[in-house]
This record gives sequence, C-alpha cells and structure tokens, in this order.
Amino acid sequence: MTPTSASPLEPIVGSAAIVVCCGSGGVGKTSTAAALALRGAELGRRTCVLTIDPAKRLAQALGLDLLSNEPKPVSGKGLPTAGPGSLDATMLDMRRTFDGIIERYARDEEQAERILANRFYQRLSSTLAGTHEYMAMEKLYELHESGRYELLVVDTPPTRSALDFLDAPTHLNELLDARALRLLIGPAQRVGRTYMAGLNFATNTMARMIRRLTGSELLAEVGEFFAAFEGMYDGFKERAKRVYELLEHPGTAFVVVATPDQVALREAAYFAGRLASGRMPLGALVVNRVHRAAPVPEVPAEALERLQGDGADGRLLATLLEQHRALETLAATERRRIAGLAEAVPGASVVEVPLLADDVHDIPGLRRLGAHLFATA
Ligand SMILES: Nc1ncnc2c1ncn2[C@@H]1O[C@H](COP(=O)(O)OP(=O)(O)OP(=O)(O)O)[C@@H](O)[C@H]1O
Ligand SMILES: [Mg+2]
Repeated sequence: MTPTSASPLEPIVGSAAIVVCCGSGGVGKTSTAAALALRGAELGRRTCVLTIDPAKRLAQALGLDLLSNEPKPVSGKGLPTAGPGSLDATMLDMRRTFDGIIERYARDEEQAERILANRFYQRLSSTLAGTHEYMAMEKLYELHESGRYELLVVDTPPTRSALDFLDAPTHLNELLDARALRLLIGPAQRVGRTYMAGLNFATNTMARMIRRLTGSELLAEVGEFFAAFEGMYDGFKERAKRVYELLEHPGTAFVVVATPDQVALREAAYFAGRLASGRMPLGALVVNRVHRAAPVPEVPAEALERLQGDGADGRLLATLLEQHRALETLAATERRRIAGLAEAVPGASVVEVPLLADDVHDIPGLRRLGAHLFATA
C-alpha cells in the first residue's frame, strides 16, 4: 500500500500569504479560489478571496454584487463564526480600481480629474486587453499592503491564455509608456489625416488599439490623455515592479488549474514553466473535472449480445455497460494525459478533482469541491 499523504494544498492555504489561481478559460479557477479561501478560513486564518466575474449564483452565495469592490464578510450557512478564522470576498471592479490608481499617482486633483473625465481613458480602462489582469494584481497589492488579511486568494480573469495574467503589467506599462508614444502623440494634437496616416504605419499594440477604438471625435482626447498622463508613468512602473516582487515572494503560491483536455493541460505545463523561469513559486497543479469510472467486471461480448436480446431490463443493462465502457476509455485517456503533465512538470504536486454531479454554486458546493482538493492521496 502506498503511504497516505496530505493534500499539498493543505499547507499552502495553511501558511501562504497569497494564493493565485490561474489557468485557461472555464477550467474552474473561480470555484477553486473560493474553495481554497473557505478552507483557509476554516483553518483559522483571516482570509479574503478576490474573485473576478463569478457565476451569478456563486456570487450570490458569497454575498457579492456589483458594488463589492471592497471586501465584505461572506455570511452564509456553516461559515466559521467562532475562532480566529474569517472569510471575506470581493469582486474586482476594473474601472474603479484603475480610477484609484490614477487618483494615487496624479500630481494633483486637477490632473486626476482631467484623466478620469477623458473619454479615451474611460474606454481604455474598461476595454484594453490586459487591463483586467493588471487591475487584479493591483487590487491584490492594495489588499496585501492593507495588512487586513493573513491569506489572500486571488482568482484570475478568464483570459484566452493563462499567460496573459503574468504578462499584463509589462504589457500595460509598455502601452502606457508615454515616452515611446510621444511620436504618436505629436501628430495627435494636430488631429487629422497626418495622424491617421501615422497610426496606420505604427505597429505597436497601443496604436492598433487606438485605431480600433476611436472614432475621429475621440482622437483629440487620445492626445489629451497622454498629455495628462505625462509624469505618471514612473509611478506605474514602480508599482508594477513591486507587484512582481510580491508574486516572487516565497509567501506566494500559484495554483495552476486545468481540465484533463489536451489544450488546457498543455497550457498548464507551459504556465508552470513560465513560473519557474520567472522564479515564481508553483504551489500545485489542480486537474479539475476529471472523469472517473468505478471498475465493473469485464463483460464478454457474447454476454452483452445475450443481454440485448433479453427484454427491456437486459437492454437497459447492456446500454449502461456500453456507456460505462466509453467512460472507462475516457477516464483512461485522461489518466494518461495527467501522467504526461506530471512528467512535463517534474516535482510539481498534482491534485485531481472529479467532475461533480452539480455546479459549484454555493457554500456546500465549495465544501464538496474542497473535500477533493484537500483529500489525502
Ligand atoms: N469539479 C467540478 N465539477 C462540476 N462542475 C464544476 C467543477 N468545477 C467547476 N465547475 C463548474 O464549472 C463552471 C466553470 O467554473 P469556474 O467559473 O470556476 O471556471 P473559471 O475558470 O473561473 O471560468 P472563467 O475562465 O470563465 O472565469 C462553473 O459552472 C462551475 O460551477
Ligand atoms: Mg472565473
């Protein structure tokens, strides 16, 4: 018999200061983040989960609504009320977080107001790819600095690629680098054909975005935005640097979530590699929604045939056995793929969570998910 060992996630939620759940779209990041946070609270830690776009029913269960940019206690059935542990939840409001940064780094109120009222800024702060990820990190940093929590569990946005999350601060900084953009802004202040021509030749992401986003009436505001932004860039850059430092800190653990399909697993392996090369600590790999098939005795083909000709009960049994065999095949394929992942990321702990019969949309659901996340192997 193999010795039983505790789930690698147990010590993580028991001692890490920050847990970042990442992975590709739809794999279970939000559910996992909430389940990990709940466990942290149950282990007696002052915990906050920072969610991003949780499904409506889960948001309700966590007591979140659109006005939850600030953490609020999760008050639900069976949450720890006695003892030191507590669970708060917050939902990222990208726009308000971005506004907060502008207010912080602006030279004075007037500069902040000019930027906040700028229509280009308003578009930028709610639509620019990568802004969401950047704001999640920003909010994380802010909550960490506040010292209110012992454990912060961060969900990440449903990006196409989990890597977008790590790259976001760098991207955004490049985009907002006023120095690099000066060439572009110069003509913008003249607003006209020359400017558009300049944009058409420009290859950088910001230029592409400006081209896509702005109607001609907004072009003037683009120039004004960068003029107003002047001088704030260094603050942004400094801040991003500190966020990266926080992510590299040994008190941080990344939990990479995937499903047992090829694409998600490959992405998880790639992400783990990126973490390693960036010296960011990988806590564990979670493979979620794994199909399991309880073993049933092998049924010989002739027996199946006989069953099929054996009245309604026999046919039902034959159908069930056939479906079960398909499930066994799927489960075996998934086992092979997961073993491949473990090989691709040597030394990483892999935690498997089966496909549950129901969505994870309330506190009992989080506990059911948690029972698998924290099961002893
Ligand atoms: N083990 C599981 N069994 C069954 N359903 C699950 C399981 N884990 C998560 N789910 C469900 O799968 C759906 C997606 O989960 P979740 O919202 O956590 O994914 P996500 O990675 O945060 O998605 P997105 O990238 O869109 O933010 C949800 O409806 C959730 O309830
Ligand atoms: Mg999500």
